[in-house]
Amino acid sequence: MTDTIAPRLALAKELAQEAGQLAQRMRAQQDGSFSREKGHQDFVTEADVAVETLIRQRIAATFADDGLLGEEEGHSGSGNALWVVDPIDGTTNYMRGLADWGVSIAFCRDGRVELGVIYAPDLDLLVWARREQGAYIGENPARTAEGTPLDQAVLLLGRSARTSVDDYLSLLKRLIESGLEYRRNGSAAISLAAVALGQVDGFYEAHLNAWDAAAGLLIVEEAGGRSDCGDLDAFLSGGGPVFASAAGLHQEIGALLSVGAEAD
Ligand code: IPD
Ligand code: CA
Ligand code: CA
Repeated sequence: MTDTIAPRLALAKELAQEAGQLAQRMRAQQDGSFSREKGHQDFVTEADVAVETLIRQRIAATFADDGLLGEEEGHSGSGNALWVVDPIDGTTNYMRGLADWGVSIAFCRDGRVELGVIYAPDLDLLVWARREQGAYIGENPARTAEGTPLDQAVLLLGRSARTSVDDYLSLLKRLIESGLEYRRNGSAAISLAAVALGQVDGFYEAHLNAWDAAAGLLIVEEAGGRSDCGDLDAFLSGGGPVFASAAGLHQEIGALLSVGAEAD
């Protein structure tokens, strides 16, 4: 049987790197109109748009029948093959010269994520996975952390204006009281990559869109971890809560978050 995923994975890896380097160049050459505010503390730059356009054009040139869901231009095409693209995840970090931002590309078919690629140019980091074939950092296998006790664990959190401040504050209180340490880095994609690399033990955000997390969720699972975003079709259409962690802590952290535990 023809392997239809391998050429898409090769393109996604090549394209994520090319797109990330375009964003770096554009940032170096920016002028006064480079960014604008879409909402409070929610920015879009000329690079977000240019990078998504580049990715759309290159995918359409090779896989004309595939659909694409991107943050900046929405959903195009139809059918059961869908690319899911965040041209720059962590735009605020990108604009301000903080290193935690990246290009996130996933390919989904028949209700499952088949491949995911995250490229973080400022970190010189390429993390990727193909379903049932493992997760990799560059060419080396990526593995989630193992055996961290809860009171030594580190959880990355995300938050946006899409969700309640009060819920976030009460979650923080529960986590601190449980003995967990937490961080927030401003990029869901880089957070999920950090879980897959065992740099932290988990990541949670109350609402993400599919473009933020589709690639990272597969990468965590293929690195030996567990991830929850509910039903993929519902997640693709409206987003939802995302929880990913090392397998050994999934139930314990999930219980603290009050999500994910029911999946165990
Ligand atoms: C955002 C980042 C952030 C997360 C937000 C996302 P953007 O994506 O992933 O970490 O907390 O929910 O919207 O806007 O930088 O692509
Ligand atoms: Ca994003
Ligand atoms: Ca984005």
